[in-house]
Amino acid sequence: MAYYVTSIFAAIVTFFLPLASALGSTSYNGLAKTPQMGWDNWNAYGCEIDAATLLETAQKMVDFGLRDLGYNYVILDDCWSNMQRSDDGSLVANATKFPDGIKAVADEIHSMGLLFGMYSSAGMYTCAQYLGSLGHEEQDAQTFADWGVDYLKYDNCYNQGQEGNSLITFDRYNTMSKALNKTGRPIFYSMCNWGRDYPWNWAQTMANSWRISGDVYDSFDRPDDRCPCTTYDCPLPGFHCSIMNIIGKVAPIVDKGQPGGWNDLDALEVGNGGMSDDEYKAHFSMWAMVKSPLIMGTNIPKMTASTYSILANPAVIAISQDSAGTPAYRVWKRAAEVDEYDQGEQSLWVMSLSGGDYAMAMLNAGNASMEMKATLEDIFIDKATTGGGATRGPLPSSSGWDIHDLWANRMDDVTANAILQGNATVNGTIMETSNSMMVYNATEMAYSDGIGMSHPALLGVKISSVQPMGTISATVPRHGIAMYRLRKQEGVSMKKRDEL
Ligand code: GLA
Repeated sequence: MAYYVTSIFAAIVTFFLPLASALGSTSYNGLAKTPQMGWDNWNAYGCEIDAATLLETAQKMVDFGLRDLGYNYVILDDCWSNMQRSDDGSLVANATKFPDGIKAVADEIHSMGLLFGMYSSAGMYTCAQYLGSLGHEEQDAQTFADWGVDYLKYDNCYNQGQEGNSLITFDRYNTMSKALNKTGRPIFYSMCNWGRDYPWNWAQTMANSWRISGDVYDSFDRPDDRCPCTTYDCPLPGFHCSIMNIIGKVAPIVDKGQPGGWNDLDALEVGNGGMSDDEYKAHFSMWAMVKSPLIMGTNIPKMTASTYSILANPAVIAISQDSAGTPAYRVWKRAAEVDEYDQGEQSLWVMSLSGGDYAMAMLNAGNASMEMKATLEDIFIDKATTGGGATRGPLPSSSGWDIHDLWANRMDDVTANAILQGNATVNGTIMETSNSMMVYNATEMAYSDGIGMSHPALLGVKISSVQPMGTISATVPRHGIAMYRLRKQEGVSMKKRDEL
């Protein structure tokens, strides 16, 4: 009898255990607990890419401390292959661009402590008309695994009409997801179907990120007919989508991003020359706030000090990489003075962070510098209206909060230039990182640990505080942003009625 009871119990445990662990895990393949970071060649180089450029970029990512800020994927985009498969049906790298083959590149990138990404398409061809992987998923996934690939960006061109409803698209992308899993190598899976068939509704169980729009371009808010949609519901995603166009598309679907699977707003344009410094700061800040991947898209060896000090702002990156994994949402959007493209709007974005902090951003896409205001009631509106009801404790708006400006410690150009010229290394590492206000090394100390010990590079500068039920205001430049971390003040709260 005891035997039967034990074996029935064992059978029940065996049956439910995989289910329990699947339910408890936050990522289908264990990757992407926070949004991925790295560099992709497409925005800066297009098809003009080869092994030497990749390796030089990777080396500079190490030298400049970008790897140690978390930018660890080096991603080779379109145009890397031959126009024909080999006799056994495998993809073959172009021998002029990659004289030693792809594996040699991957090996060298790995030896630098970085990870290596590649590109293919869930279609007959890639978008630049090289060979795609549709119908070859298992063979190509195995080729990538054999080469030591850690990341696949998987595009949507020439898909043979296999889209138009979510299930068809799910199946087409899931075929590659399963093929990647089958290799046994952990490969980050970055879907690039531009939001067609609403991947944010279904991709979390088989991909680590999914593009939500047509291709970004290096403009803050210029409309372009080749990016015709302004909402997420888009039959023709196109390209030349501005920063504000893409922000408008993500706003209603931010909550679909979660640890393991993220909304991808496309690679960063910071540094490519088409926007002002304020616009690039706003672009980078918003990508961090909504938890888009932070994939640099500029010429790394030639980057300027101001580009560097945006991409290497640890206080902003700590928001992206916060372990709670909760994307910011738009609390409100208001019309502002319009600019030449009639895109003027101001908005307030808020997110909760691990450990009880909050992040907020006031975005001014209007045509003039503006004093923007956000009440604590606005900032904590979700706490007042979501769940809990009568059993809810004191609202956060009834506390006082310290305001930390996440751009106030932005690195000065002298320091940035010293790093870019290779003059700022101490004992082989970039400067002294343990107590710097501007430099952070996430290889030495994970962001969650740094936040836990209030590392000065992650907190920005405390500029003021706000009283219970108070208002936060800031003068926000044209096409600019104010981005703050809010930390609760101990012992500052509204008095209860009987104490008044
Ligand atoms: C598509 C993708 C881009 C890039 C190009 C390459 O347009 O959306 O990100 O990969 O293809 O051809």
